[in-house]
Amino acid sequence: MGDEPGQPVDAPWWRSAVIYQIYPRSFADSDGDGIGDLPGIRARLPYLRELGVDAVWISPFYPSPMADAGYDVSDYRDVEPIFGTLADADALLTEAHALGLKVIVDLVPNHTSDEHEWFRAALDAPPGSPERARYMFRDGRGEHGEIPPNDWISNFGGAAWTRAADGQWYLHLFDSKQPDLDWTNPEVVAEFESILRFWLDRGIDGFRIDVAHGLAKDPEMPDLEGNWATGGPAVEGHPHWDRDEVHEVYRGWRRVTDAYAGDRVFVGEVWVQTPEQLARYLRGDELHTAFNFTYLLAGWDAKSLRTAIDDSIDALSAVGAPATWVLSNHDVVRHVTRYGGGDLGNHRARAATLLTLALPGGAYVYQGEELGLPEVVDLPPELRQDPAFGRTQGEDGFRDGCRVPIPWSGEAPPFGFGPGSGQPWLPQPADWAALTVEKQQGDPASMLALYRSALELRRDRPELGDGTMSWIDTDGELLAFRRDPGFVCVVNVGGEPAPPPDAVRDGALLLSSDPLEPDGRLPGATSAWYAV
Ligand code: NOJ
Repeated sequence: MGDEPGQPVDAPWWRSAVIYQIYPRSFADSDGDGIGDLPGIRARLPYLRELGVDAVWISPFYPSPMADAGYDVSDYRDVEPIFGTLADADALLTEAHALGLKVIVDLVPNHTSDEHEWFRAALDAPPGSPERARYMFRDGRGEHGEIPPNDWISNFGGAAWTRAADGQWYLHLFDSKQPDLDWTNPEVVAEFESILRFWLDRGIDGFRIDVAHGLAKDPEMPDLEGNWATGGPAVEGHPHWDRDEVHEVYRGWRRVTDAYAGDRVFVGEVWVQTPEQLARYLRGDELHTAFNFTYLLAGWDAKSLRTAIDDSIDALSAVGAPATWVLSNHDVVRHVTRYGGGDLGNHRARAATLLTLALPGGAYVYQGEELGLPEVVDLPPELRQDPAFGRTQGEDGFRDGCRVPIPWSGEAPPFGFGPGSGQPWLPQPADWAALTVEKQQGDPASMLALYRSALELRRDRPELGDGTMSWIDTDGELLAFRRDPGFVCVVNVGGEPAPPPDAVRDGALLLSSDPLEPDGRLPGATSAWYAV
């Protein structure tokens, strides 16, 4: 961390951007079928403009049998009819751009749907055929090939291999309806570069890359022997996570985007153990940014947060990449609930918002966090659609709890999610009546009002966004840092009121996540921004 102020005025937008994640099934439904869609998103773009974000990342909206809510793509160059048409996607892009919002689409390169034409052709073709060579087909072990080729397990539970009718097995690190592609095959490489161009030519501003750490597999396919966790961050030498060969893929992609005008961006979903491993994906000729899961996973205590922040900035600045700060997404328990739920979780989430938006770099907002939505923990099993729920007999796979449709207005479900009274694909809790956009809009103490104020200040204050930070000495559960030339963020992570550091004694309070004490102390779980 150096101490030069702010970012250069001509720095690319993504170094500072606040990017709002839209999970299309659950954002806004235009036609009343209970599932969100692209026209629904279009209608709500002014809301996002008013919220004050810079860009949207939209989770997959491609044709898909929806075995994994669209992360099982059957055609990378079209739009799933439930969500709309390619013309809707074009209109969304045009309208977003007119409002000054960038648009990032989700790219799923590790696997296709089993209903993709390539996989259908692979099943119809014999072992050893070029059609099968696009995927990871192998003969089984055992006398009749009845034992899977190795002991790898699916991220969603159960074996990572499924047997085709003729006896060969295919690899799927996720659901059996998500066969893994073979990235050593030049045809796969060429196809994805062509898919990138398809969307770049339509004018999109970037790609979020699904499972970016998973594309390369050890050709020897050694057994894991139960030693290495599947879902979480990878360890060095793992046969299918974070292997060196993936970097060549991203160098090729970077050559594609670099040939386009405008600052097109890649953001990697890279689950690895350390910020140093992450930084390798962000070298100058690879991806531009990646989600910072170290920060998302940090506990709510000053030491963990500070360590996560320092380690991230140190590792990423070494390769010249900006950090990104993320608290929630469609795969993790919403942070209000993670931070303790109820009032406590709510205050901590408010404090975390001001911390997140004051840190140097970009930030992500997952739809609904600006409303303070909690995780829905009591969805009935028969309504759950997370494939991991089925594959683990209900022991895992609770991601539907953070995917419940957004409450926009009114006193009862569907809370304006769709027209009329038709119910959404997952039921909304009745007490979300208090959390609708409509309710919060008129309430200056609401979570929505906090996000709007913070995002407005973030746009106005030259210190915020990309740049550097320096810690101010504090004790106990207080964190404080300066963004030069004249901004300080103080976070009371603890439970008791604490005075801000001397550095802000003569400063002016710009915003606090909750009201400060009359003597200026920060209540527990409160953050404040000061001009100094
Ligand atoms: C990560 C995505 O965020 C998640 O939702 C999906 O299930 C897996 N990748 C598999 O594509």
